[in-house]
Amino acid sequence: MKYLVTGGAGFIGSHLVENLLSEGSEVIVVDDFSTGSRKNLEHLSRNSALDVVEGNILNLPELEYLISRSDMVYHLAAAVGVELVVHDPVRTITTNVHGTEKVLKGAVRKNTKLLIASTSEVYGKSEKDSFSERDDLLIGPSTHCRWSYACSKLLDEFLAMAYFRSSRLPVVVARFFNTVGPRQTGRYGMVLPRFVEKAIRNEDLQIYGDGEQSRCFCHVDDTVRALRLLEKSDTAIGEVFNIGTRRQTTINNLAAMVIEHVGSTSATKHVPYEKAYEAGFEDMRRRLPDISKISSLTGWEPSISLEGIIDSVAGFHRGNGAVS
Ligand SMILES: NC(=O)c1ccc[n+]([C@@H]2O[C@H](COP(=O)([O-])OP(=O)(O)OC[C@H]3O[C@@H](n4cnc5c(N)ncnc54)[C@H](O)[C@@H]3O)[C@@H](O)[C@H]2O)c1
Repeated sequence: MKYLVTGGAGFIGSHLVENLLSEGSEVIVVDDFSTGSRKNLEHLSRNSALDVVEGNILNLPELEYLISRSDMVYHLAAAVGVELVVHDPVRTITTNVHGTEKVLKGAVRKNTKLLIASTSEVYGKSEKDSFSERDDLLIGPSTHCRWSYACSKLLDEFLAMAYFRSSRLPVVVARFFNTVGPRQTGRYGMVLPRFVEKAIRNEDLQIYGDGEQSRCFCHVDDTVRALRLLEKSDTAIGEVFNIGTRRQTTINNLAAMVIEHVGSTSATKHVPYEKAYEAGFEDMRRRLPDISKISSLTGWEPSISLEGIIDSVAGFHRGNGAVS
């Protein structure tokens, strides 16, 4: 099989590329290295089945050609991370909406199978116990930049479904809840790598808000396994799937676990949201996925515990000299 992975030099992308190459497939990566890096693919650089094309999906002239040469496209390239979204909202919307539109248009030419990465952010401020793919979505006002990421990804989903309906394009949408693991950078506000880096240096861990907001963390290996199972299921086409774990932890508890697992002397420090992000910043108290849809279709269940996740992230950052 030949694959195109947009954003393949990013965190999730590089793990996916590794997985695809390990089964003997050919992979073309298109990445502009804005939040990803060549270093993420360095260990694969001797593999002749990997071709890395540096370019921006918004204006790469050969994008359509590269898509037409592929049996399947994983579209992961996006402007990612709350910090980036708050500080560069125009780039977020443009990259996520026009970038996905370009990829969809390219895929239509030869009816190429496509998987599009979306996010649990689309559930917005909903206070439901557990989020299901059929739920209504409750996005905040357009005066708060934070919601532009959710809206841009939601528009991607609508576009994907529109192409599925109007052109029978075989497209699948995956809504990732917090995916974590080695190679994720803390530079754009992702909480776990940020905590681990600080804990290794015995520096204060900054917790935004009161820290009682809870999240579920899924190891990237589990996420990649979910993507590959969706790829192999024809029933998944034209559908949206949550990918995440059901184990909830508060950010206060996550900080305590990181400090314990790293064997750190770090303290924790609470920082108001408006200082961390922007005035009026809104966050969700909890975000728990209902994963029955993907589980019943593919049998997928996450397998790596939070303790195992923290250990693997700590191991990676120790090996890296703890710099992001
Ligand atoms: N990690 C998570 O917890 C999470 C949660 C929800 C959704 N997602 C989605 O998963 C996908 C991958 O995220 P990630 O966590 O690996 O982040 P990442 O930043 O590591 O990966 C994104 C990649 O896309 C590249 N990119 C960005 N803009 C580009 C452009 N215009 N042209 C070409 N390449 C471009 C970046 O350089 C990077 O390599 C994204 O679509 C993201 O929205 C991730």
